[in-house]
Amino acid sequence: MRTHYCGELNESHIDQTVSLCGWVHRRRDHGGVIFLDLRDRDGITQIVFDPDTVESFATAEQVRNEFVVKVVGRVRARPEGTVNSEMSTGQIEVLGKELEILNAADTPPFQLDEHMGVSEDVRLRNRFIDLRRPEMLNRMKMRSQITSSIRRYLDEGGFLDIETPILTRATPEGARDYLVPSRTHPGKFFALPQSPQLFKQLLMVSGIDRYYQIAKCFRDEDLRADRQPEFTQIDMETSFMDEDEVMAISETMIREVFTKHLGVELAEFPRMTHEEAVRKYGIDRPDLRISMQLVDIADLMKEVEFKVFNAPANDPASRVVVLKVDGGATLSRKQIDEYTEFVAIYGARGLAWIKVNDIDAGLEGLQSPILKFMPEEIVQKLLERTEAKTGDILFFGADKASIVNEAIGALRVRLGEDLDMLECEWAPVWVVDFPMFEFDEKEGSYTSVHHPFTAPSCSPEELAENPGTALSRAYDMVLNGTELGGGSIRINKPEMQKAVFTVLGISPEEAEEKFGFLLNGLRYGCPPHGGIAFGLDRLVMMMTGTQSIRDVIAFPKTQSASCLLTNAPGEVNNKQLRELNIRLREQAKPSATPQEGA
Ligand code: AMO
Ligand code: AMP
Repeated sequence: MRTHYCGELNESHIDQTVSLCGWVHRRRDHGGVIFLDLRDRDGITQIVFDPDTVESFATAEQVRNEFVVKVVGRVRARPEGTVNSEMSTGQIEVLGKELEILNAADTPPFQLDEHMGVSEDVRLRNRFIDLRRPEMLNRMKMRSQITSSIRRYLDEGGFLDIETPILTRATPEGARDYLVPSRTHPGKFFALPQSPQLFKQLLMVSGIDRYYQIAKCFRDEDLRADRQPEFTQIDMETSFMDEDEVMAISETMIREVFTKHLGVELAEFPRMTHEEAVRKYGIDRPDLRISMQLVDIADLMKEVEFKVFNAPANDPASRVVVLKVDGGATLSRKQIDEYTEFVAIYGARGLAWIKVNDIDAGLEGLQSPILKFMPEEIVQKLLERTEAKTGDILFFGADKASIVNEAIGALRVRLGEDLDMLECEWAPVWVVDFPMFEFDEKEGSYTSVHHPFTAPSCSPEELAENPGTALSRAYDMVLNGTELGGGSIRINKPEMQKAVFTVLGISPEEAEEKFGFLLNGLRYGCPPHGGIAFGLDRLVMMMTGTQSIRDVIAFPKTQSASCLLTNAPGEVNNKQLRELNIRLREQAKPSATPQEGA
């Protein structure tokens, strides 16, 4: 039907007769001539109809916004003074000769060029229109192009693209499962995969050697700006590669994607141990665009009068840290109060501070509510350790280590953004040497920091003896404070897998019932293997510079995991429930679908 896309036309097409198809973006009647801005996925071209072409002029009078039309016309240079340098096609216009209405359209629920005031609910409910907006279309295009580059890279690297089941058993990745009842096995359920983890390991047992999949994963977990219940991984697994090799091959992939699609050359990614990341940045996914670090001062605070500091300073499970903010002495009392409220979200009970108004004036040059509790020599040591200068502010955190890490870690990023302290655009880092387990105080048991199939860097005996200090062979790729991907070298021997299950409190019977198929695989010649999975949505989100993961997914779910377009999840009728052997409890019976925000 068409010869060109609208966005393609430029001065080189002048005098050609073209045929364009698309949507009427805007119609302007300039008494005598009618202008249609015709839009397709590629861009917008201005079409002019004048009354000489009687029939098409009459049709042009009838069309309205978002009508679907076909235009045949001649490309010509825009008359002087009407060139639009903002538009890629702004040098030309098409003099319309024929106009055919392919379909009419009701008045759209929002104007495509005035969407800013429209709530996300309305956009999601009418996603098919929202996706017409060039901004959204461009993100979808970028996503498709990035995916295609990644496929090409992996295909060329000898990786085989293999699909794994969606109806399966639970994969433990730390979230709740989405369950699907089985009709043919009453009372039994499939779980949707949280990741293809177990299958990709079995593919290594099968000798596939290098696997990848652009894989849908399902996790019923609390949603945030960078999480969806249904998301996509770039999932990879390799045999006979150690961690350096897996990290190298996947790092090159990410670097190539950045070069190709953003023209950004990322240098080789630095590595940082988990311990260092938490110590310096309070978090295992540090945002290294900001150089500020947490500085430990518990040793200085053991004897001070100030209880808020000396109690945690003498408790090995606590931390006392200071964060020096360059130029922060200009912060007002109100701003400091706001930051105090901010750290309270993470459980901090306060935010002590010292302003350095004049570093050469001794105590006189400092301003703070806590100076009265500290001997001058301690204050002096504090200033030396933090290398404080005139104009800086010091913020303090003192509490259980987890609270200090979270609160001051988050404050560091918040201050970095508020005070424009980002030193570069992209700061990737590999975080390595994660602990194998973390102790869940509430449950009184260990849980895996990655997943239970991650290999430790010690023997099964050492693991059994000191599970709390064992390190794993896991690695995370972190970019600007976001975890882009994570993976590990896996356990490939049954004894080690059993040792890990024992620490996790999984009995041999339970292990057999849940993962018997994997344990069997380990017994029949399982090669050393390891891999990684990247969050494709997160990667595209960062590369397109948007703050919401929903902006890079064509049909995303809301914060409460529903789809406003289709109204999923939906009710099912009694016949279906009976077939599935399911009876709903009284309070779970569906009522009217609640109205909700994104
Ligand atoms: P992990 O659980 O770290 O590892 O997931 C890998 C990557 O997937 C992305 N991701 C998500 N993206 C959007 N919404 C979510 N709810 C979500 N959850 C995770 C993140 C994360 O880094 N099987 C292992 C990988 C392996 O060991 O090879 C796994 O799934 O970017
Ligand atoms: P207070 O003596 O409780 O008024 O606290 C004095 C200063 O210490 C105030 O600036 C508080 O915000 C701060 N503060 C209180 N608890 C903590 C804490 N756990 N960590 C850091 N600062 C704190």
